[in-house]
Amino acid sequence: MAQETENTVWNCPFDYAEALEFDPTLRRIMTEEPVARIRLPYGEGEAWLVTRYEDVRTVTTDRRFSRHAIVGRDFPRMTPEPIVQDEAINVMDPPANSRLRSLVSKAFAPKQVERMRTRTQHVVDELLDRMVEDGAPGDLMENLASPLPLTTICEVLDIPEDERAQLRHYARTMMNTSLDNKDNAIRAKAEMREYFTELTARRRQDPGEDLISALATARVGDEVLDEKELTVMAMVLLITGQDTTTYEIANLSYTLLTRPKELAMLRQHPEALPQAIEEMLRFIPFRKGVGIPRVALEDVELSGVTIRAGDIVHVSYLTANRDGEKFDRPDELDFSREGTSHMTFGWGGHHCLGAPLAITELQSALGTLLRRFPELRLAKPAEEIRWNTTSIWRYPLALPVVW
Ligand code: HEM
Repeated sequence: MAQETENTVWNCPFDYAEALEFDPTLRRIMTEEPVARIRLPYGEGEAWLVTRYEDVRTVTTDRRFSRHAIVGRDFPRMTPEPIVQDEAINVMDPPANSRLRSLVSKAFAPKQVERMRTRTQHVVDELLDRMVEDGAPGDLMENLASPLPLTTICEVLDIPEDERAQLRHYARTMMNTSLDNKDNAIRAKAEMREYFTELTARRRQDPGEDLISALATARVGDEVLDEKELTVMAMVLLITGQDTTTYEIANLSYTLLTRPKELAMLRQHPEALPQAIEEMLRFIPFRKGVGIPRVALEDVELSGVTIRAGDIVHVSYLTANRDGEKFDRPDELDFSREGTSHMTFGWGGHHCLGAPLAITELQSALGTLLRRFPELRLAKPAEEIRWNTTSIWRYPLALPVVW
């Protein structure tokens, strides 16, 4: 639970992991002090936490807030070792990131992703065939949510099958929030970087049809990506391109399987699935706490609070998604909700590049589950589902189902 100290600095462990309930600390901050001073488990000093939708929009779009200015600072964060690397797209400001974003977004443009849809559906069908062959009960996490995004992104990057599990292991080690894990995280990050340095060099010399080759040979004007940029971009895609989607497939499945009314509605109206997915993405607190912050380059006032030049600023996409000023009855899951976009894929210059791919995977996975298993249900009471407590992501460890 958060404590307010004399200086009104909220001590924020953000370690809440009760199923998919909303973190009470975040709720209190949003209600009591929408722009608050916070202290996080790791990193030096304090930061601001901005929680209202409109203020989050300002911080993520206004050039007075810089991502690049965090490089070299021991910024307040959730993990002992920063996940992000200094050369990564996540810490670039415009115009530096525009070149990279335009290259990568081409690969995930709706038309490209539409082409991946057929392949994604094929993988979903194969995975579910296997689950059926093994017989009920089956674990949706192990049989579907876990392998689908890893397979998809590894196919996009053309990573050999026998190297995929190791890469996933590196990524998961880096997401761990416990201090004991710091040395492992540093090692995992270094080993993954070595792997991608070698792979990207090979692709540069001998390009194939994959996204790394496309990035290695792509030109924007006269420029190509240098070795470091290419290596780190490939790492970012692998790290962010699979686990988030895995956890969201599991979280959305759990949400449907524990809400009979909404599930029945979708079974009757499968055409409503895309909108229902958007609403579940808004509603589900998909991660713990906060991600990568920004630095204010000059004094800025937000909701009556002055943020000073040089201050570190975190935003919460989770609270923005539950802001009563933007969403009517924000704590209700309502599949008929339309209008304001959620912020689960971030906002502004760092909005998720893989969102179209993630949506395709979610539509394919959930759509097939609904179509193929009219009797699908949890194999144990919801209260017995166990949840991850050590990662920045929130998700069930297993999701046993019968059909
Ligand atoms: C449901 C699944 C996913 C969720 C919830 C998600 C969410 C996010 C969020 C919150 C951000 C950061 C916004 C910020 O920095 O403020 C982000 C960035 C990013 N995501 Fe995703 N993501 C998902 C799937 C994917 C996939 C499948 C890929 C790649 C294939 C991907 C690639 C990226 C990249 C490259 C960035 C960095 C963009 C930048 O900093 O310019 N993500 N994502």
